[in-house]
Amino acid sequence: MTPTRFVPPDRPVRVGIIGSGNIARNHVEGYQAAGAEIVGLVDIDAAVLARRSLEWRVERTFTEVGELLALPGLDAVSVCTPNAAHAPATIAAAAAGLHVLCEKPISLSLAEADAMIDACRDAGVLLQVDHHLRSNPSVERMHAIIASGELGRITFVRLRQAHDWAGLPEVPFGFRTAALAGGGTLLDNGCHLFDLARFLAGDVDEVFARVATLKFEAEVEDTAAVSLRFGSGALGSIETAWTSTGWDQSFLVDGTAGTLEYTERGGPPRLRHTRREPGDLTWDSTIATTWTTPAGTDHTRAVAAFVAAIRGERPVPCTGEDGREAVRLALASYTSSASGAPIRLS
Ligand SMILES: NC(=O)c1ccc[n+]([C@@H]2O[C@H](COP(=O)([O-])OP(=O)(O)OC[C@H]3O[C@@H](n4cnc5c(N)ncnc54)[C@H](O)[C@@H]3O)[C@@H](O)[C@H]2O)c1
Repeated sequence: MTPTRFVPPDRPVRVGIIGSGNIARNHVEGYQAAGAEIVGLVDIDAAVLARRSLEWRVERTFTEVGELLALPGLDAVSVCTPNAAHAPATIAAAAAGLHVLCEKPISLSLAEADAMIDACRDAGVLLQVDHHLRSNPSVERMHAIIASGELGRITFVRLRQAHDWAGLPEVPFGFRTAALAGGGTLLDNGCHLFDLARFLAGDVDEVFARVATLKFEAEVEDTAAVSLRFGSGALGSIETAWTSTGWDQSFLVDGTAGTLEYTERGGPPRLRHTRREPGDLTWDSTIATTWTTPAGTDHTRAVAAFVAAIRGERPVPCTGEDGREAVRLALASYTSSASGAPIRLS
């Protein structure tokens, strides 16, 4: 195993982008905000590269990953390709001695995730999976309130992410095609929520799922519901859908001493903490504190955390092992849905 090489503070962190589509924009904006230098872009589509090169003012573009990795002086890459290409790009970047920020889900299989984790560990490079919800300011506050013990014992967690592809008549190719995506909304949106469930309430030891394809012509599911049981004994549920209207992201955590509710529906992101004064036995006189935060800062904060980790200033917020566990829970949920039975994970 090679010792990790951190980037000293006297020069910018130099990164490359592999896959220059939609989510890559959030990475580029995050790196620019963090003062990192974007050295080159890769995409298999030359038209995408030409457009992005102008838009992001990055001169060097490549249609082969190996050409980017051969550039001298690179420190790290973001892997923003469709899911099926995460593993080969990550393993090649690690072999070239580069830190990796990999989009979610980390991989299509646990064997691929293991190979990615091993490659990064052996090369002494960092692997961060972009479960950016861990960097959402309200989620950080929820995590801190739970960790302080103020919510008491966690009893129930309800996590939802749903949308309609901004009204598109069909699901984008890379997401509706099983060989590229590996799954539908349960893997795509659900992997974020499985990770968030663990981040807020600890390991999940049983899943019971149903998935369905109800609206779109797609090889994968567009609607999913999963019942969870945590190792702590708490219960929970995850709902994901491409069949909603508009964008919905909401997280609820009940504890024996309070409730946290986060929503982005119909307004700015807001978190409410509801609790009772000791001895209050009414239905409606609970105390509530509400915080609002600006929308859309999660990715920038996740990328900033990656840059800080590359400088040795902090650990990555979400490791390869965390990304693997999110995929393990999603794959177990598919098995549950296919068999009609709950799946034990421990
Ligand atoms: N963290 C999040 O919230 C979030 C949000 C959206 C997408 N994603 C993830 O990001 C990834 C990309 O999604 P997107 O919406 O940007 O898709 P996209 O289709 O807009 O972009 C993917 C790009 O990768 C290119 N590409 C395909 N194969 C490649 C390869 N082998 N090498 C280099 N480039 C290749 C495509 O030409 C395309 O331009 C997916 O894994 C997706 O799950 C994450």
